[in-house]
Amino acid sequence: MGERLKDKIALVTGAASGIGKGTALRFAEEGAAVACADLNSAGAEAVAAEITGSGGRAIGIGADVTNQADVERMISATRDAFGDLNVVVNNAGITIVGSVENLSEAEWDKELDINVKSIYRVSKTVWPILRERGGGVILNTASIAGQIGIGHDAAYCASKAAVIMLTRCMAADGAADRIRVNSVCPGFIATPMIDGFFNDQDDPEASRAAATKLHPLGRLGTPRDIAGGFVYLASDDAEWVTGTALTIDGGLMAAIPSG
Ligand SMILES: NC(=O)c1ccc[n+]([C@@H]2O[C@H](COP(=O)([O-])OP(=O)(O)OC[C@H]3O[C@@H](n4cnc5c(N)ncnc54)[C@H](O)[C@@H]3O)[C@@H](O)[C@H]2O)c1
Repeated sequence: MGERLKDKIALVTGAASGIGKGTALRFAEEGAAVACADLNSAGAEAVAAEITGSGGRAIGIGADVTNQADVERMISATRDAFGDLNVVVNNAGITIVGSVENLSEAEWDKELDINVKSIYRVSKTVWPILRERGGGVILNTASIAGQIGIGHDAAYCASKAAVIMLTRCMAADGAADRIRVNSVCPGFIATPMIDGFFNDQDDPEASRAAATKLHPLGRLGTPRDIAGGFVYLASDDAEWVTGTALTIDGGLMAAIPSG
């Protein structure tokens, strides 16, 4: 067990799978108490059980980040269980493949609600709590898709660009209250979400191979690669870091592949 987060009490959304699960596990390894929240309550409970089974502190919470009552309940449950809350990771997200022409209005609204408005909703709810306790950290999962467009992924890219900008605005507003706000921009990460993205393409295997080739470091990322960034941003090593978008992408955004 590390100690980089030993004084941290963290709430991670979308913690049943992929990047959220990897982050919850990594936070616990670094000594944080972790509330694992997810729409998939059985999955959230399973990740919490994995943490407590290895001697860590965790609870699992079934919660939908698009529902205000659920958001209030997950925040209260974290504070009831651990006596405090000082790190929130807004990570829950979905992707619905489609161009503007193909996406229905309902799909657009659902994707923007889960990927962006939920960050407004969770942050607004936790803000007075963080202010009153003397500060805290809010971390948001954005994406390289918020920095560069991807074909047939219009709502997703728009949502992630919004996450990067919302992060900057909240960082400006939070500084006086010692609330640091940062985002992480993953490249393509091997999770159930990206499997779904590839499977929705005309030729899934060709799409996976093409995506892998975009990363100069020669492979897709893992949830652990991203969790390492979240550990840094949640830790006191990052006490002078706010408003940033930390790109963790195997070099994808650095250059166009030559071959
Ligand atoms: N996988 C990638 O390549 C990649 C790249 C960049 C960014 N991201 C972002 O990382 C985050 C996690 O994605 P992942 O790849 O781990 O996906 P995933 O599908 O493996 O996990 C997402 C989790 O979010 C949960 N979730 C969905 N809607 C929810 C809701 N309304 N309330 C609560 N929980 C909800 C799901 O149940 C699931 O457990 C997302 O924000 C995603 O956009 C992923």
